[in-house]
Formats: sequence, structure tokens, C-alpha cells
Amino acid sequence: SVVRHYKFHVVKKNTTRLCNSKPIITVNGKFPGPTLYAREDDTVIVRVVNHVQDNVTIHWHGVRQLRTGWSDGPAYITQCPIPTGHSYIYNFTLTGQRGTLLWHAHINWQRATVHGAIVILPKLGVPYPFPKPDKEEIIIFGEWWKSDVEAVINQAMKLGQPPNVSDAHTINGLPGPVSICTSKGYTLHVETGKIYLLRIVNAAVNEELFFRIAGHKLTIVEVDATYTKPFQTDTIFIGPGQTTNALLAADQSIGKYLIAISPFMDTIVATDNQLGTGILRYKGIVPFSTTSLTAMPPRNATPVTTSFMDSLRSLNSKTYPANVPLNIDHSLLFTIGVGVNPCATCINGSRIVADINNVSFVMPTTALLQAHYYSIGGVFTDDFPGNPPIPFNYTGSTPQNMQTKNGTKVYRLAYSSTVQIVLQGNSFIAPESHPTHLHGFNFFVVGKGVGNYDPKNDTKNFNLVDPVERNTISVPTGGWTAIRFRADNPGVWFMHCHLEVHTTWGLKMAFLVENGIGPNESILPPPSDLPKC
Ligand code: C2O
Repeated sequence: SVVRHYKFHVVKKNTTRLCNSKPIITVNGKFPGPTLYAREDDTVIVRVVNHVQDNVTIHWHGVRQLRTGWSDGPAYITQCPIPTGHSYIYNFTLTGQRGTLLWHAHINWQRATVHGAIVILPKLGVPYPFPKPDKEEIIIFGEWWKSDVEAVINQAMKLGQPPNVSDAHTINGLPGPVSICTSKGYTLHVETGKIYLLRIVNAAVNEELFFRIAGHKLTIVEVDATYTKPFQTDTIFIGPGQTTNALLAADQSIGKYLIAISPFMDTIVATDNQLGTGILRYKGIVPFSTTSLTAMPPRNATPVTTSFMDSLRSLNSKTYPANVPLNIDHSLLFTIGVGVNPCATCINGSRIVADINNVSFVMPTTALLQAHYYSIGGVFTDDFPGNPPIPFNYTGSTPQNMQTKNGTKVYRLAYSSTVQIVLQGNSFIAPESHPTHLHGFNFFVVGKGVGNYDPKNDTKNFNLVDPVERNTISVPTGGWTAIRFRADNPGVWFMHCHLEVHTTWGLKMAFLVENGIGPNESILPPPSDLPKC
């Protein structure tokens, strides 16, 4: 293993999309930002320099950060933000991880433009557990607002209303369909007979997406930097924060084929019908050949998302075993969803809130990890409820106003204890899907279902052999998902819905994992350049 150095200059860059230019926050002037390349077990050192007026942090989404929570990045959770004119060095080791992940800003809605891919290759000389591709291609999905993204959310928060949906979906930063406003959309160039490994990243702010390439099937081999049993599909379902590696065989007749992404869900945020497109183009096509089109799944096509998620299984080979925790120390039920609370100053007399077990998370002004490490009192309490305050019909059709309470609460876990969380979607306003992300761990997705979780019967159907392992999971619309992990990483770890609007409304909490007693079981001391709050 080696040490790899990167420099991330956070700078404003005037960028033109959809016939309109605006200064956006970028890393090194690029949108999407630079790709971070490394191999399994390498150490990565990224010096982030903040040249913009806003505070900045960068999160390495899916990197486990074993004992190095100081480098995880969520603002006010593991660090105070990097102020303008300052820098901070993120230093972490990619222990036992290989695959595709992403990095993104983790403060306010900055990740709309500040994101990029992380490619972790296997150790030198170690092959992929699937046929060697001829070429690899990174494909990043995003969203573009014509107006300033921070203004969009600030306005929405002031009014207690949903923010505007984005004006376009992008593939590698480029909106499509190609119009007079875009000189060219995204093009994937292929050669007949070759195999491509697509490293697909969903960096969109508020959309879970469907992805298809006309006329082609894709073979899924990895999600969230964990290998899966290969399976073929014509549609990929991918939530924000998730990554999917798929093999594409250029085995169709020479031509042009539409690449398309479309939103899965109608949300209370609003209806977003934007199709994002690009072109798969074979080498040697004749000029002016027409493009083969593809029909996308309809909105709210839960049969498509269900069948995709049901097909995902850990590879669970000898080399890559699935070590699913079998005995559980903490069995938790978390209701997650969006509701309304009274608000005297809001336009409707109410504001939208989101919560876990009726706690809408309030961001602290000192980072939780610092407060924990230095025993600073008054920053958080460790009484986050492991169960909903009152049981009710979570997915019932009668809207329930739960009068959500605000709080900065964590759930405390002993080192190496085992945890099961049933993430139960609630329907306070409407059933929605929530791509839920846990920092600091991978978890196994042992079960899922529609309606209310029933501990007696549903547990019997859990997959404890080869469940998919990931860091972000879509909780089914009007249903639940059960995840398991071992708390073998001391520190403070954020968990939240990766739809940024839901996070902003409070759908977030944190786990505090205590130090163990062994020599390598406690959090490392903070780096000397850790920003102050
Ligand atoms: Cu990719 Cu806390 O997020």
C-alpha cells in the first residue's frame, strides 16, 4: 500500500448550463469534481483549501474511517467547518475497501456542485471477481438549478415549504436532452465486442433515479464498494449517495443508443418529470444515424425498485465473505418520515419537519465528535429513543401529526456491540422512499417489506446468509428495511436521509460508539489543524 496525496482547492467558477451562467462552488474549478484514485489499503491525504466565502467540509461517502472520524467530514458532527482562507488535511486509510464511492461537500446544500467519484482499485495483482473489463467509465448523476442552490433552500426553510425542484438532471455535469443551450450532452464511446465497467454514482441532491441504456442489458457486480452476485438487468435503481458498478457489453449493432435517467418518486417536494439523457455511441457509426430510444419506468414504479433491490446479494465468496451479525445487542425500531409542525411565522401557519422517532435533529454549534472526545457538556444528550414514543399505524392512510420535538440526541453503543435497525417509513403526510445513509459503517440489508414491520413474522424471512452490504439503503415507500452492523468503529457517526431536503428538515441522528479496551479500539487523537467552531 502507498500514500496518495491530493489537493482540493475549493473555488468559485463561472459555469454555464441551460443557457445561463452562474458562479458555482467547485473543487479545482471542475463540475463534477476530480476523481480520487487509490488502491485497497492505501492511505489518502487530501489537503482541502477553502478559497470561497462559505464554510466548507468534504465527506468521503462510504469510506469507513476506522478510528479516523476526524476525517469523515459532516459539518458539526465530526468537525467544525473549514472557514474561508483556511485549509484542513483529511487523512484516512482505505482498509479492506475496494470499489466505487463518492466524495461530496457536507454542509448545507453545497454538495449540489461539490462532488466527485472515488475509485478504489483492488490491491496490486488482485483481480476483480468478474470478467476483466476492456475499459472503465465513471458516470455521475447530478442536478442543476438555474438559481443559487443555497438561496433555494434558505427561502424554503424560511417559508416552511418545499424548495423548488432542480431545472435539469445531469450526467457527468452535462444536462440532456441536447438543446440549443447545451453544445453537447454526455457521450459514452464504445467499440463493438468490448466490455465496459461503468462506475455509476448518484450525486443528485433530491432524486432517487432509474437508469437505462437503450438496447443493452447491464450486469451488476458491485454496489457501494462491496461485490455482489452478478445479475443482469435493463434498469438500475440508484439513490443519492449510492454507487453501482455494472458491466456493459458493446454487443449490439453499430449505432447510437439513448442513455437515460429519470426520477423514481413523486414526493411532497413536487413533481419532477425531468428526463436526463446522454448517448451511447459505437465507433464507426454512419453520420446522421438515428438514436435508439428507451422507455423509462413510470413514476413511483415500486415493482421495478423492489425487483432490483431483491436481486442484490452479497458475493459472499471465500475471499469476500458476508459476516452478518447473528446475535443482536441493540434491536432498534426507527420511524422515519416527514410531517408538519405549527409555525407562527410560516406562510401556512405550519412548517414541514422530518424526524426519526419523532426527534427532528437540531444541528449543534460544536462538532459532536469534539464534544465527545473532550467531554464538552451541553452539546448533545445521549437519550436518542431506540423505539418510537408511541406505537401507531405507521403506514396508515390517516395522516398523523406527531408534533415532532427538536433535539440534538445521539444513541450510545458499546464498542463492537451488534445493532439491528428496522427503518420504518411513516406516512404522516404521504408514504415516501428514504435513501438512508449511515456514516462509518457498511451494514447488511437483512430484510424489507411493505406496511408495518411485524417483529414476530418478518424476522423469520430475514436473509442472514448473503444479504447485500452497503452504506445507503432505500427504505421502501410505505414500508420498512432492516439493517445490521457491528459497531466496531469508535466515534460519532451520522445517519440521515440522503435526500438533502429531508436532511435539512431534520431526518438525521447520530450514533456514539464508545472506545474499546484493546490497543486498536479507540479513536485516534484529532489532527492539529482540526478547524475550530
Ligand atoms: Cu453522503 Cu452524510 O452523506
